[in-house]
Amino acid sequence: MKFKKENRLITAALPYVNNVPHLGNIVGSHLPADIFARYCRLVGHNCVFVGGTDEHGTATEVAAIQKNTTPQRLCDFYYKIHREIYNWFNFSYDNFSRTSRGIHHKFTQSFFIKVYKNGFLKEDILVLPFCKNCNRQLSDRYIEGKCPYCHYENARGDQCEKCSKLLDPANLKNPKCVVCNSTDIEFKEEKHLFLDLTKLSTKLERWIKSNKHWRPQVRNMAFAWLKEGLKPRCITRNLKWGIKVPIKGYEDKVFYVWAEAAIGYISATKEWHNKKWKEFWLKKRSKIYHFIGKDNIPFHTILFPAELIAHKGYNLPYNVVGLQYLNFEGGKFSKSKERGVFCENLPNTNLSSDYWRFYLSFTIPETGDTDFSWDEFKERINKELVDNFGNFINRVLKFTWNNFNKKIPLSKGDHFINTANKQIDKVIVAFEKVELRKAMQEILRLSDLGNKYFDKTKPWKTKDKTAVFNCANLCKVLGLLINPFLPATSEKILKMLNCSESNWDNIKRFNLKNHKINEPEILFHKIEDCQIEELKQKTSKVTKYSIEQTETIKNTQTKPKPMIKYEEFQKLEIKVGKIKSAKEHPNADKLLILEVDTGDKLRQIVAGLKGHYKPEELKGKEVIVLTNLEPRDLRGFKSEGMLLAAIDGNKVVALTVDKDVKAGSEIK
Ligand code: 2FM
Ligand code: ZN
Repeated sequence: MKFKKENRLITAALPYVNNVPHLGNIVGSHLPADIFARYCRLVGHNCVFVGGTDEHGTATEVAAIQKNTTPQRLCDFYYKIHREIYNWFNFSYDNFSRTSRGIHHKFTQSFFIKVYKNGFLKEDILVLPFCKNCNRQLSDRYIEGKCPYCHYENARGDQCEKCSKLLDPANLKNPKCVVCNSTDIEFKEEKHLFLDLTKLSTKLERWIKSNKHWRPQVRNMAFAWLKEGLKPRCITRNLKWGIKVPIKGYEDKVFYVWAEAAIGYISATKEWHNKKWKEFWLKKRSKIYHFIGKDNIPFHTILFPAELIAHKGYNLPYNVVGLQYLNFEGGKFSKSKERGVFCENLPNTNLSSDYWRFYLSFTIPETGDTDFSWDEFKERINKELVDNFGNFINRVLKFTWNNFNKKIPLSKGDHFINTANKQIDKVIVAFEKVELRKAMQEILRLSDLGNKYFDKTKPWKTKDKTAVFNCANLCKVLGLLINPFLPATSEKILKMLNCSESNWDNIKRFNLKNHKINEPEILFHKIEDCQIEELKQKTSKVTKYSIEQTETIKNTQTKPKPMIKYEEFQKLEIKVGKIKSAKEHPNADKLLILEVDTGDKLRQIVAGLKGHYKPEELKGKEVIVLTNLEPRDLRGFKSEGMLLAAIDGNKVVALTVDKDVKAGSEIK
C-alpha cells in the first residue's frame, strides 16, 4: 500500500513536574500523541515524537516551598516518576526532555534575542501584585481571586481554570495570596518585556482561518480570542527559577513559563538530533501536530504561533489537537477524596499496560469531556477486547495450529479480502483525521467481521482452506492495525503468526500462505467483579512520596515567612561565640556536640554539622549563636542555644565573622 510520505513531528503537552501525572494527562495528550505517532511510523512517515517536562514557573516554586525543597530537586524527583509512568505505558517518545536542561535555556535565549531584534518585543509597564504579608512579589499562580469574566471564585492570576480566559492578576476581584492567604495585596508597577501580539494579529488571523482541518472547538476558541482583540502579552517574570532573559536591563528577570515552555518542543527535537530537527521545524511542508488539553488551546493557537511568526523561519503547527477533560464516575478526580485512578498504582494492578491503553483509548476526550467508569472498563475489556478481538485471534490461530498442521494453508482467498480491505481504508481515514476513537472502533468492527465470517464458514466442520487462510491473514491485518493502540499485543500476535512485517506497506496483502506459525497463547483474560473491587482499592490510593522526609531543606530564602516587627527581632540575642571543643554525638547521624564560649559562659550547643565539618576543623572557629533560645534536649544532650548556618541544598555552612572579634560580641 502506498502512502504519501511526509515529515511529521508529534508533540504531547509538556506536563508540569510538581506532581505525579494523572489519567487526565494520559488521555489528554500522551496517549493520543503516542497512538498517532505509532500510526505515522507504521505508514512510513518520517516521524518524530517529542515531549518532556515543563519545569519552570511559579507552580514549581510553590510546590517546592510546600515540600520544603528546591525547585531543581523537586523537578529531578518528579521527572523520574513521570518517566517511569510513561515508560510503563509504552509511550514511544523519541525524546522526552526537560525545560530545565541547558539546551532549552540556550535555545530559548537565542530565540527571543531574534524576536527582539525583529522588533516584536516591547517594553511596557506591568502592574504586579505584591503580598505585604509575605513581602514578596506575587505572580501567576501565587495570586487567586474571582474571575472577572465567569465569576469563578478561585481563578488563578494567569488563567481562569473554569472559562480558560487568560487573566491579568490586576483584574481579579478580591485577590489573595496563595501562599499565606492574606488579602493585603498591593499592586506595583515594573518594567517588563511584552510580545507585541497586536502587531502580529493580522498574520495570526490569516493563518488561523486557513486551518480548516482543525477541530471545531479548537478553531472556535482561537477565533474567540481573536475577536476580543490581541493585546501585547508580558513574557518576563520576576522569579529566580526559570530562564534568564538575555536582554539588557532585564538580566534579573526570567521568561514567563508559558512564553518558553512550547519552545521546549523545538529544543527537544534539537536535542533528539542536532541536524535532523531542521527537517521538521524549518523545511516547508513538514507537519507539526500538537496534542494538548483544552486549557492549553490559547497558548498553542495564539501565543506560541505568534512567537514563531515573530521569530520568522519556523513552521507553524499543522494541527492543534485540543482534547477535552476526563472525569471520574460522573464527577471530578480528587486526590484528597481518593476519588479516581492514580497512575503510579497501575503497574501494581496485574493488568498489563495494554489493558489500560485499550480502555483509555475509548475515553480519549476528542469531541467532548469523557468519563472513566469501572463498569464500562469491565464491559469494554470483557466484551470487546476479550470476546471480540482476542477471541478472534485466539480461535483462528488455535484452530490453524490444531487442524492445519501448524500452518496457514495455501489459498488465493476470495471476496472476503475486499471486504477486509475496505475496512482497513476506514481505519486509515480515521487515523489521518486524528479520529483515534473512530480508528479503534473500525478495527473492532473488522475483528467482529472476522468472527462472523468464521462462524458462518464453520471451518471446524468444512475444513475449508480458504476460510482458514482468510481468517489467519486477517489476524495479521489486525495484529498490524492494533499496533498504535496496543503495541505489546501487536508484537505477540505477529510473533504467534511468525510474521516479520513491521509496517503497513503490505497490510492489505493476504500474503501468509503455506506458512508455519508459532504456538498460540491466550492474549487476554476476562475481568471478574471481585477483580474490579481489588482494582478500585489499589488504584485509588494516593502515594505520599517521601521527598518531604528525605529532602527537607529549611530554605528560608524560598519559604516566605510572615513579616515581624522590629521589636520582635530585638528579642533575639545573637552573639559571636568561639568553639572550644567539638565531638560527634554518640546517638545521632547528623549532630555534633560543641562547647562554645559566648562571653557570658561556656555553653553546650548541639548542631547539625556532622558530615559537613570534621570536629577538629571547628575548634577555634568564631561562629554566630542565638543564645536566648530555650534550652532543648537533642537526643540526650542539652543544647543551650543555636548555631546559625547557611543551607544550600545539601551543603551546610556555619556562619562566621569577617574579622576577629571578642567572644560574646553582640550581633545587631
Ligand atoms: O498545562 C500544562 O500542563 C502545561 N505544562 C502544558 C505546557 S504545553 C507546552 F506549551 F509546553
Ligand atoms: Zn502572602
